[in-house]
Order: sequence, then structure tokens, then C-alpha cells
Amino acid sequence: MKVLVIGGGAREHALCRSLSLDSDVNALYCAPGNAGISEVAELRPVDALDGEAVARLATELGADLVVIGPEAPLVAGVADAVRAVGIPVFGPSAEAAQLEGSKAFAKDVMAAAGVPTARSYVCTTPEEVDAALDAFGAPYVVKDDGLAAGKGVVVTEDRAAARAHALACDRVVIEEFLDGPEVSLFAITDGVTVLPLQPAQDFKRALDGDEGPNTGGMGAYSPLPWADPKLVDEVMESVLQPTVDELRHRGTPFSGLLYAGLAITSRGVRVIEFNARFGDPETQVVLARLRTPLASVLLNAAQGTLHAEPPLSWREDAAVTVVIASHNYPDTPRTGDPIEGLAEVAAEDAPEAYVLHAGTRREGEAVVSAGGRVLSVTATGSDLAQARERAYKAVARIRLDGSQHRTDIAAKAAEGR
Ligand code: AMP
Ligand code: GLY
Repeated sequence: MKVLVIGGGAREHALCRSLSLDSDVNALYCAPGNAGISEVAELRPVDALDGEAVARLATELGADLVVIGPEAPLVAGVADAVRAVGIPVFGPSAEAAQLEGSKAFAKDVMAAAGVPTARSYVCTTPEEVDAALDAFGAPYVVKDDGLAAGKGVVVTEDRAAARAHALACDRVVIEEFLDGPEVSLFAITDGVTVLPLQPAQDFKRALDGDEGPNTGGMGAYSPLPWADPKLVDEVMESVLQPTVDELRHRGTPFSGLLYAGLAITSRGVRVIEFNARFGDPETQVVLARLRTPLASVLLNAAQGTLHAEPPLSWREDAAVTVVIASHNYPDTPRTGDPIEGLAEVAAEDAPEAYVLHAGTRREGEAVVSAGGRVLSVTATGSDLAQARERAYKAVARIRLDGSQHRTDIAAKAAEGR
């Protein structure tokens, strides 16, 4: 199988790494990719948001499967453009990707499907905003309706700040605050059959102890030893299958990766948000634990034949990923700094620990930072404590001027807290 992966972050590096280890895959391309991905896939330049260009590239390469990593191309209809030239795509149509692209659409689907989520109002005027803020009280949760790369959500005790964020957006969803730990649960679907992956937890805040600003995600781990073993079955039944069924009944079947961001509240599981693609950095730990070869599962999802797949098989291992971010992330990150120590990790710590690249590029012989999140240092172990120790040992070998990382990824879970 010839596979083309679209995107260039650590999620796509994790996908490419898994696909490169899959004997069903005899040619692997990534566009645009990054410095790390170039070690496992052949890179091609492309504007990932240009559906025609991606379709042309897939045709030229003779791709049997295109896997779209990030949300922006999905919302822009890139999967539709590739499907239109007859090539199977892993990733939803633009219409189905509205599940991530519009919070209001997602709320409407959940209401129709009876999926448990925070009570909410969609607001477009200052009067509606004030009424909604007063209806729920503090802490206030205000979400930009559209795609905002993790920056559209404000959770605050400060009514003035909540109001200011709401008025800065065209349309917002204001909702009830959900307490309790968060879980990311991914499912692969062809629009009918739903195959859940193992749950993971992401660390969204920049600083240790969940302090500091929201980010795209600073680390992740899987499995979740504290979670109810019935969680996956419960979420399948109450969230994933009803959502997939609802979208199919609307005539906009969702195929690809359905990501449920969940809060485990005292009153039960609630959906915080849906995403229409693999999460980053959770994918790095989930794929580290997946034993089933990935390519045929993704192809079956793309072709509507997922019912033919046996249940996924998982390693007993735990996995931890620690994100190394640039100086000043998540504000305007500094880029162009040389990254050292990658060869040492490869020589000393592999295969249990390895470095997945996010914002990196090659400059002659050097690898330099090229984005906010730069690397996802990932490790497996017999339990979370061992995976953590291996990941942080590898993190310590990496030298990137001004870089930052959290030191407490999976710490509580590893200690059984
Ligand atoms: P989202 O972009 O919807 O994932 O939101 C980003 C983060 O904001 C989530 O991971 C949560 O930590 C937080 N958040 C979103 N919605 C709520 C809510 N209703 N209650 C509490 N926290 C929330
Ligand atoms: N890890 C959060 C996300 O991918 O949106």
C-alpha cells in the first residue's frame, strides 16, 4: 500500500512512524512533514489547505490511501477533494468536520443524539452574552464558535474577562462549567462501525501543576490507571456510537477519527468537545501502545469496510510523552534555534524512548526549531513510572536554547493519585 500523510506535527510523525513499521505499507509519503518525519517517510511540499493540490499530489504518487492529520484541511474540504478523484481518504468531509469546526453544530448534534454534555447557549449579541453568563455563574466558560487552534476557549472566574472574550468573537457558546478529570478517547469509524482506541490524558496548561496559559497540549499518557475499566464501553454507548449514527442519519456520515474530549464529573461523563482528527499529543502515546498494524484499519475506515476489522490489540506497556516547546510558547514562540542531543537519544534510549518531531526543520546538517511545540519525547515502560523515567531521561539529553517542558506529566497517575 502507498500511503500519503498530510500534516507536519508530532501527531503526523507518530502516524508515519506506525505506518513505516507496518508491513502492508511499501511506500510512505508525508506532505509537508518535518525534519523528523523525513527519516521515516519521503517528504513532498504541499499547501495542506489546498484540496486540489493535495488531490493532484496523491494522484501523482499513486497513493492508495491519504491520511489527513490536522483539522484545518478537513474543515477546508481537503478530504472531499481527494475523494472526488477516487482515492480513499482517512478523514471526514468538510460537512462532517463541522463537529470540530463549529461548537454550535457539535452542540446541536449532541442534543439530537442525546449525548451528555454541558448545558449551553449560543450567543451573538451582548444581551445574550450577559444573560448566559448570569444563568450559569462563575466559573465562566466561553468558547469561540469557530476553529481557534486551542485558543478559543476561556475558562475564568472573572466575569469581565469572560464578557470581553465573548464580545471579541462573532458567535460564542457559553456553557456550564464541568469539573472532574479530563479524558481523551479516540475512535476510528467509517460512518457506521465504531472502533474505540485506548483512553489517554492530555496536559493542556503550559506550567507544572496545571498553571499558566492553555496550550495545544504539553504532554500525555496512557493508560489511565485511575479510570473506571468500563469507561470505554460506556462512552461507546452514550457518546461515540450515537454521534456517528446521528451524523449518518443527517446525510453527513463521519468517517475518520472521532475524538471525544470528556470530563469525568461527579454526575457522570460529559463531552467537553469533539475533534474530527487524532489529538496531539495523545496520539503519540496511544499509537505507542497499539499492536494492530495501522494501515489496514485506516484503509477500512476510509472504504466503509471497518466491520471487517477484528477488535484492536494493545500492548501491556504504558506510554508517556513530554512536549518540548520553544521559548515564549504559547505566545509568539521563538524559532530557528538549533536542537542538539537527538542522536544521543537514538543511540542510548531507543527503542523504549524516541523523539517525535513537531515544529522542526533541517538547516544544512542541523535540525532547528520551527514552531511552538518542537518535540514530543515519547517512551514506553512496564508501567507509567518506568515510561515517565525513560521519557524524562531522554528529555534531559535534548538541548534547545530557551526551551520549556512540564516536569509533572503523568506524575500523579504514576503515583496512583
Ligand atoms: P476545548 O477547546 O473545548 O477543548 O477547551 C479547552 C479546555 O478548556 C478543555 O480542555 C478544558 O480544560 C476547558 N474547558 C472547556 N469546556 C469546559 C467546561 N464546560 N468546563 C470546564 N472546563 C472546560
Ligand atoms: N490534545 C488536544 C487536541 O489535540 O486538540
